[in-house]
Amino acid sequence: MRARRRESPTRLTRLSAAARRHERARWSHRANAWERWEPVFMHSLSAVNPALIRALDLRPGQRVVDLGCGSGDPALEIAQWVGPRGSVLGIDLSPEMLATAGRRARLLGLKNVRFRRADIARVSHSGARFDRAVSRFSLMFVDDVPRTLERMRGTLKRGGRVAIAVWGPVAANPGTRLRADATRPFEKDPPADPEQTAHPMRLARPGLLPRLMRRAGFVRVRAEAVRVCWVYPSLEDYVRLQIDTSLADLHESLSPANRRRLRERLRRAFRRFESGQVVRYPGQTWVVSGQAP
Ligand SMILES: C[S@@+](CC[C@H](N)C(=O)[O-])C[C@H]1O[C@@H](n2cnc3c(N)ncnc32)[C@H](O)[C@@H]1O
Repeated sequence: MRARRRESPTRLTRLSAAARRHERARWSHRANAWERWEPVFMHSLSAVNPALIRALDLRPGQRVVDLGCGSGDPALEIAQWVGPRGSVLGIDLSPEMLATAGRRARLLGLKNVRFRRADIARVSHSGARFDRAVSRFSLMFVDDVPRTLERMRGTLKRGGRVAIAVWGPVAANPGTRLRADATRPFEKDPPADPEQTAHPMRLARPGLLPRLMRRAGFVRVRAEAVRVCWVYPSLEDYVRLQIDTSLADLHESLSPANRRRLRERLRRAFRRFESGQVVRYPGQTWVVSGQAP
């Protein structure tokens, strides 16, 4: 059964309305933590924007849409690439994430970027089409991935390019597996199949996103593996960041004794990544690009 599903990339499950509401609340709830840990995210993911920008083949004056821009990546960097004659529209579900993006845009003095709250699986764009569309670590959380890809293609001019970043396989992201091992004793349910839920690893399987993009009508689809290096100032910072972000719901659900046990399991698992003064470990993302015919 499992092998057959693996060969059928379009059978990603659509999320229910309740799951969509949960997703919106989750990102709004996390926005503060995402901003507090901005230095770690910005540094650790710094290899991804250059790969997206290279795949987009940007020119000054272009109009770009960033789907699921969160707190402003890569919208803010692209706004500087396309210059004052170009523009960027950043779209996200969470007003709290967009508020951070607005603060960053004002600090940078960017006048050519604006943000709008919408669901990227449902957004319909009636104005002029865009030259470029981009999405960084957001597509895996929408309720209907194939439909969202079709909408992305629909926002683009003929020949317009898209570039999408998603997480690569668990084998190339050791932090993901070690964290899952550390949390397993506290999980009430067996681990969810990442392809059937709003999960960071939903599009990690090699070849899956390129196939979905071709089915959505994109041509010249190419995938690039981009290495990243997670860096935390200390082991304690690693544990705090996890508990503030990915593990927030689980941590809140535990007794004080189990919270202590969880933190200790995380420390024990990630101690192997202490490197000089910091904690460092590798990761891998996919940057998949294509063109609207
Ligand atoms: C991991 S964050 C990535 C944010 C940003 N692109 C970055 O790389 O830092 C995922 C973002 O996707 C947004 N998101 C999830 N589902 C969405 C949807 N259906 N429509 C719009 N945004 C969505 C969340 O609100 C969140 O800001």
